[in-house]
Amino acid sequence: MIFTVAIDGPAAAGKGTISKAVATHFGFPHLDTGLLYRATGRRVLAGEEPVAAAQGLRPEDLDRDDLRTAEVAQAASRVAAVPEVRAALIAFQRAFARREGGAVLDGRDIGTVICPDAEVKLYVTASDEVRAARRYLELSAKGAATSPAEVLDDLRARDARDAGRDTAPMKPAPDALLLDTTNLSIEAAVEEAVRAVKQKLEQGRR
Ligand code: DC
Repeated sequence: MIFTVAIDGPAAAGKGTISKAVATHFGFPHLDTGLLYRATGRRVLAGEEPVAAAQGLRPEDLDRDDLRTAEVAQAASRVAAVPEVRAALIAFQRAFARREGGAVLDGRDIGTVICPDAEVKLYVTASDEVRAARRYLELSAKGAATSPAEVLDDLRARDARDAGRDTAPMKPAPDALLLDTTNLSIEAAVEEAVRAVKQKLEQGRR
C-alpha cells in the first residue's frame, strides 16, 4: 500500500509531535524533512557552500545532536530558500513518501511540492505567541540562553523567509485540512489527525 500523510506548517505549531504520534499509531515510518535542511545549514555554518552541503548530505549528518539550536534553525531557513538546495533533497523525500507501507512526512512543502498526491494533507498552525511560548520552553529546558521575545522574533523572521521565498514557499495545499493548535491540547490535535488518516484509510478499503 502506498499511503502518504503530508503534514506542513510553520515552526513550533505542533507538526513534529503530531507526525510522530500519527506514525506510531499507524506503524508508518516518519521523516522530519526539516532535519535535512537543518543538517545542510549545519554544514554551511561549518564553512561549506550550500549546494555542495545539500548534495553531500550523509545519513550521519541527520543524527547530530546539535541540529535543534536557534542558530541552525535560521541557517536551515536560509539554505532552504536556495532552489538548487531544495532540488538536491527532492528525490530522497519523494522516494520516502511513496515507499511501500505508508509514510508520514512533515515540513513546509510536502503537500504542495514533494507529494501533491498525498492521501492525507494536514496544515498545522497556531498563533505566533503560542508557538513562541512552546519553543521557548523547549529551548530553555535544554539550557539555551534566550528570552521569549527573542524566540518570537526568530520565529517570525523564519516564517517570513519560509513563506516568502519563490521556490516551494510554505503554504497550505488547497486540499489540506487545517489544524489550528492554538487552543488545542496535544492529545486533541493528535486525535483529529488520527481521525483524518483513519477516514481516508477506510475509504480506500471500500
Ligand atoms: O521544521 P524545522 O523547523 O526543523 O525546519 C527548519 C527550516 O527548514 C525551516 O525554517 C524551513 C526549512 N524547511 C523547508 O524549507 N522545507 C521543509 N519541507 C522543511 C523545512
